[in-house]
Amino acid sequence: MEVKNWVRLEFPSESENVLFARTAVAVFASQLDFTLEEIEDIKVAVSEAVSNCVIHAYGDCSGNIVVICKYSIDELEITVEDNGCGIPDIVQASEAGYTTIPEERMGLGLVFIHELMDHVAIASEVGKGTKLLMAKRIPRSRE
Ligand SMILES: Nc1ncnc2c1ncn2[C@@H]1O[C@H](COP(=O)(O)OP(=O)(O)OP(=O)(O)O)[C@@H](O)[C@H]1O
Ligand SMILES: [Mg+2]
Repeated sequence: MEVKNWVRLEFPSESENVLFARTAVAVFASQLDFTLEEIEDIKVAVSEAVSNCVIHAYGDCSGNIVVICKYSIDELEITVEDNGCGIPDIVQASEAGYTTIPEERMGLGLVFIHELMDHVAIASEVGKGTKLLMAKRIPRSRE
């Protein structure tokens, strides 16, 4: 990937920063040739990823979240990283309806992220943290 531009955001895992992160990423992505609908998809995916760090990675504790966005000529790539509790089984966590907080959550965030983005990869280590990478292709021309 030949990176044309990038931005790095780091913030504490406060729930109000979910809105900040998704808006900041949307503004960055709006430099590119995405439709408003695609920008909306990116916002939802970032919200879900950052919410997961706030809710699951750190729980009642606080920690930092790092969001890096970069783009090449044909792809926007976003990574969302935490140093929280980690995910023991990524395949199971990605199943529709699987959640470790069934009283409150739907277990659909990771499913939405897979649907809205073109490529998703999750790396995680229990007790160390999680890094979610998601990418969306930039349409070359809409004519
Ligand atoms: N960053 C993370 N750190 C630790 N665990 C995570 C992280 N992201 C996801 N998980 C685990 O994966 C499960 C599934 O995540 P997913 O976003 O699909 O559902 P959810 O957050 O439980 O519910 P919803 O997103 O519908 O509110 C979570 O319940 C949690 O156990
Ligand atoms: Mg979630």
